Amino acid sequence: MNIIAVLNQKGGVGKTTSTINIAASLASSGKSVLVIDLDPQANATSGLGIDKNVVGSSIYNVLTTGDKAENAIIDTHIDGLRILPATTSLAAAEPELAGELQRELVLKKSISQLVYDVILIDCPPSLGLLSINALAAADSVLIPVQTEFYALEGLGLLMQTIQRVQGGLNPDLKLLGVVMTMVDPRNSLSGQVIEEVKKHFGEYVFNTYIPRNVRLAEAPSFGKTIFEHDRWSKGSRAYKNLAKEVINRG
Ligand SMILES: Nc1ncnc2c1ncn2[C@@H]1O[C@H](COP(=O)(O)OP(=O)(O)O)[C@@H](O)[C@H]1O
Ligand SMILES: [Mg+2]
Repeated sequence: MNIIAVLNQKGGVGKTTSTINIAASLASSGKSVLVIDLDPQANATSGLGIDKNVVGSSIYNVLTTGDKAENAIIDTHIDGLRILPATTSLAAAEPELAGELQRELVLKKSISQLVYDVILIDCPPSLGLLSINALAAADSVLIPVQTEFYALEGLGLLMQTIQRVQGGLNPDLKLLGVVMTMVDPRNSLSGQVIEEVKKHFGEYVFNTYIPRNVRLAEAPSFGKTIFEHDRWSKGSRAYKNLAKEVINRG
């Protein structure tokens, strides 16, 4: 089993898009995959076609009222891909968790009995208690970085946070890699930003870049992955290749 936290405290960098599409690609290659939606915006849940109104027990209940993860997990329409969904109620979880003993380990404990080939955790855009729970529960971290002028901003703090978790809560936590997202090959800035990120992260930067691709942005509004929405798109090919790299590194 391989638990991967998809984390960057910046919003809009491609965490959810990467989570959903890596998960779908791995499922289509025959792996049993679970997505844990750890973001109160619940974009991974809706992006995988789950109607928020039909979600009963969710990650919020698992973290705060002790519901069993097994009972909250539901099938998606994709074979081999299940989800532990979120609802907006998850926004209330952090203050509730704050009073718990071992508040950073609640997620780890609640998923310890699950058996999947791969679990992907879609983190919220913050380094708060939910994200710390993800880092404590994970084997590795995948960091999507948007290819923009301010790409490196915030990555120092993110790496410090990862190192702090490695120094205490989870000594075995690894950096799986950094994936460059929304790359625009026609824009010379993209190349410069990638070089800059490579200076800091070297081999950790995945060889696969995710292009800016409108098909990727459209897909979640249909509750579809990119492979269903447009399997011949650039975005589809990129996420398929990225999923292969993820497995090779894992
Ligand atoms: N490679 C891409 N090309 C075009 N649009 C993208 C791409 N990746 C993500 N998006 C869009 O950008 C927005 C932010 O992406 P998202 O994955 O939700 O980021 P995060 O989860 O980090 O907040 C969404 O509207 C998404 O559809
Ligand atoms: Mg998101």
